[in-house]
Amino acid sequence: MKAVVLVGGFGTRLRPLTLSTPKQMLPVVDRSMLEHVVGTLASHGVDEVVLSLGYKEDVFRDAYPDAVCAGVNLRYAVEPEPLDTAGAVRFAAMAAGINETFIVVNGDVFTDLDVGEVWRRHHEVGAEGTIALTPVDDPSRYGVVPTDADGRVLGFVEKPPRDEAPTNWINAGTYVFEPSVLDRIDGGRKVSIERETFPAIVADGALWAVQSDAYWVDAGTPATYLQIQLDLIDGLRGRAVPGVSAEASVADDAVVEHSVVMAGAVVESGAVVRDSAILAGARVAAGALVEGSVVGPGASIGANAKVAGLSIIGYDTAVEPDAVVVSSKIPEVV
Ligand code: GDD
Ligand code: MG
Repeated sequence: MKAVVLVGGFGTRLRPLTLSTPKQMLPVVDRSMLEHVVGTLASHGVDEVVLSLGYKEDVFRDAYPDAVCAGVNLRYAVEPEPLDTAGAVRFAAMAAGINETFIVVNGDVFTDLDVGEVWRRHHEVGAEGTIALTPVDDPSRYGVVPTDADGRVLGFVEKPPRDEAPTNWINAGTYVFEPSVLDRIDGGRKVSIERETFPAIVADGALWAVQSDAYWVDAGTPATYLQIQLDLIDGLRGRAVPGVSAEASVADDAVVEHSVVMAGAVVESGAVVRDSAILAGARVAAGALVEGSVVGPGASIGANAKVAGLSIIGYDTAVEPDAVVVSSKIPEVV
């Protein structure tokens, strides 16, 4: 099975971290987000991945110079300019010469849903496209997808106002497509799969869906980027993984609770780190408190400073001693 993995977004919601590193190359506990996503696809039988990208493509190439990620061969399809989700799928599939049934995934989705099951259902009903759905409390941030009892899709509404969402089953960002879907997408311009292509396939009655309540998180926001890491150490996806790297240094009298501390990071004497992710090479100085926040690679939190409330500290950024940072992005994102 071949999969196109969309990784060309700007990661706006995760700035300032994504100003230098594309979202899918941010670390998640011990590996890049992409490596987790591709590893999961491989476990479901995907053996070739076409990376659909543009924004900061060099970061991907530098990380996977031999074009192998999680044991899977990668092909890079670099858009000359962002073509939006459908334009990107078309560009990548054509670049890779795909002419058989293929998979598409949003590269920021962490999930245990069974792609093989979507693939089987797709063939069983003879669909042109089949998408996985997951239930959420607030559908307004996603593509909302009502179906009939057999799973035929009745409509596709991207990010509707909360009180107008017809169901709480949403687009889980995992699709199986016939190559004919590509003929529906204009070349050379931005086309949104959610706003243009899906509604067009629905109008022809050829879009189907498979519901799944398996683990599912879109990691594209500060809250969910932190959540996927804490979920891994909590064992919500298979065996719990250790949060504190063997190559991190945590002082004996520091407190690290329910947190990720990556390689080369330092937590000094008397510091407290709770429900947070301290990325590689960052430093939390003596007496500082980091709570429910993300401290970027190489950043330093000064002595007795307080960082809390889902704050995001950017790469190599210094928070002054005694500073108080609550629910903020540093450097400030304009
Ligand atoms: N190559 C390329 N080019 N990739 C892109 C582009 C582009 O122009 N624009 C976005 N992407 C990639 C992003 O990097 C991401 O992996 C994926 O496409 C989806 O974009 P997001 O920005 O993360 O979209 P979203 O989270 O707001 O909504 C999408 O995902 C939800 C599920 O996670 C939609 O597909 C919703 O319908 C869906 O419910
Ligand atoms: Mg997303």
